[in-house]
Amino acid sequence: MKILIIYYTMGGRTKKTAEAIGSTLIDHEVNYFAIELRGKRIEKIKQFDRFQNGDYSEIEKNLNSLDIKPFELIIIGMPTYGKFPPKTFDEIIRRMGNLNNKKVIVFTTARFSGGKARDYMESKVENSGGRVIKKMKFKRLFWIGTKRALKYGKVLNKAFDQRP
Ligand SMILES: Cc1cc2nc3c(=O)[nH]c(=O)nc-3n(C[C@H](O)[C@H](O)[C@H](O)COP(=O)(O)O)c2cc1C
Repeated sequence: MKILIIYYTMGGRTKKTAEAIGSTLIDHEVNYFAIELRGKRIEKIKQFDRFQNGDYSEIEKNLNSLDIKPFELIIIGMPTYGKFPPKTFDEIIRRMGNLNNKKVIVFTTARFSGGKARDYMESKVENSGGRVIKKMKFKRLFWIGTKRALKYGKVLNKAFDQRP
């Protein structure tokens, strides 16, 4: 199966989680679409602000390259800011257009909560016509491990195993 893993990361935790899941999907073709904030902390915060205010000009090319058509399953991972994912999530959803009953898995990473942001993602995906087959949150105050992500990825790899 062709799987697209979409993630956004400022500090690397969501990237780490997304890549852990992706690394276990060994029987499938995994592609990534990443929005990674770069530079020093202050530069990342400024970039974050621009995105929150709807200015995506610096990643326009990247956003334009997003094509979900070839994929049967889309996994979307976002950090939690307040009770929401970053607004870039909404922008990605907007650009994907109608999801036509496509299978989607959403997850958040968080330090304390992450449940509301995850549920927000679920409802946005469903409002766009996607079918959320699983939603998760990966919550850790400090060091975020990959144990649960790897475990879930392995389950997923098997669940979608289409070999005879
Ligand atoms: C501005 C900001 C707001 C945040 N708000 C929350 C929050 O409301 N709840 C929570 O559990 N974590 C919150 N966090 C923590 C992040 O969601 C968490 O560290 C996440 O895993 C970061 O992902 P990243 O390293 O991929 O950017 C916040 C972090 C930042 C920078």
